[in-house]
Amino acid sequence: MIKDKNTMEKIVSLCKRRGFVFQGSEIYGGLAGAWDLGPLGVALNNNIKREWWKMFVDGREDMYGLDAAILMNEKVWEASGHTGAGFCDPLVEDLETKERYRADHLMEDNGYDVEGKTPEQIDEIIEREGIKSPNGNPLSKVREFNMMFETKVGAQGDVRSYLRPETAQGIFVNFKNVVDSMNPKMPFGIGQIGKAFRNEIAPREFLFRVREFEQMEVEYFVKEENWSELFEVWRQDIWKWFDHIGLSRDNVREFEVPENDLAHYSKRTIDFEYNFPGKGFDELAGFAYRTNHDLKSHMDASGEKLEYIEADGTRYVPHVLEPSFGVGRALTAILAEAYTEDEMGGEVRTFLKLPAHLAPYRAAVSPLLKNKPELVAKAREVFAVLKKEFGNVAWDDNGNIGKRYRRQDEIGTPACVTIDFETLGQEDPSLKDTVTVRDRDTGEQTRIHISELVAYLKK
Ligand code: GAP
Repeated sequence: MIKDKNTMEKIVSLCKRRGFVFQGSEIYGGLAGAWDLGPLGVALNNNIKREWWKMFVDGREDMYGLDAAILMNEKVWEASGHTGAGFCDPLVEDLETKERYRADHLMEDNGYDVEGKTPEQIDEIIEREGIKSPNGNPLSKVREFNMMFETKVGAQGDVRSYLRPETAQGIFVNFKNVVDSMNPKMPFGIGQIGKAFRNEIAPREFLFRVREFEQMEVEYFVKEENWSELFEVWRQDIWKWFDHIGLSRDNVREFEVPENDLAHYSKRTIDFEYNFPGKGFDELAGFAYRTNHDLKSHMDASGEKLEYIEADGTRYVPHVLEPSFGVGRALTAILAEAYTEDEMGGEVRTFLKLPAHLAPYRAAVSPLLKNKPELVAKAREVFAVLKKEFGNVAWDDNGNIGKRYRRQDEIGTPACVTIDFETLGQEDPSLKDTVTVRDRDTGEQTRIHISELVAYLKK
């Protein structure tokens, strides 16, 4: 099926209707760039994070986990360069409506690529080409806008801090703690999942560009001479992650960031882009070789030695490879990939073809009729078994069976288990204790003995 802007609108609507994603503070008119995850959204989000942790931390011998505080000493952000121009976006204002725009996006919409250009250079193009705001009004001069959210700490409110704009710095400032406490062998990495905040000038496109989001980041410490070889290994591991979350390789591509556009700390960066419906390819995750810039900057600023000491006494400041993933962008890509419309029983149906390990519910259990106590009692027994085994199992006795199937299809439940009169052995004793398992993708129904149900669903 072709997925376009219309598809994305349908996904956003499904997300609200079925409890995946709600606008933040909706009853007060919302807050731009803030979204809330509903019951099914938080389930999907947790599954993404759990699978990521399994693959990139628990599944490896060379990785350590971390959960650093969101609030950090302001010196962290001075040393990392975030308080300076490096973490600013170019901002322009419509001189009449006072609406603000990201100058680079506005220029892009007008056919100009201004990546890497200074505000003065962008001003010059705006003037020369007579570029106006989307409302047709003149624009202000471009100015640098720092994206960090500043906050005050303590009763006196005199200690400045920031909501972290990336989880990465929490890893760098804990480098020495992890080395001293865990004695890792080189190369090794530290993984972290957590919230990050950026005061984006123009939050947009659902969860794509928001002001509060979650990142899943790895800082992988290497000896300088090994960086390019290990870069290739990690690059393949990143592809394996996209396979694991069900993204088709046709919809993911690599974008090699040109040298003149690289961040000042990076010697090589690949953006992994996803083909978002109606938007096209855009950044899903980043993979950067950050040299030893961060550890060195923190070493200079803090006076602490952030070095690795080999068994033979050789000391050095390790270099670092950084795979960095946004959870919200992964969630959007997974929903976009899974969203499917087909025809079943002469009707158009919508379903989410989610991988079973990501689906909010692994299975749904229903009694065929909810007013037959013997069916309900048996269904409750089966539900208890599955709930104990999988945890994320739904009880669904709302409406007729057809409606339940449609509802479960729409939220991506891979299997619906129905307890009917045959389960009770009333019609054919040989079918006693068997249930119907309906497959979400094909609609096919299979009779399975209750004793084999867990193994069947696991398969
Ligand atoms: N530590 C490196 C770093 O933060 P980044 O490219 O700025 O690099 C990494 O961000 C990932 O975080 C992005 O690829 C994206 O998935 C996610 N991300 C960044 N800004 C975001 C925003 N405003 N809204 C949603 N996700 C965002």
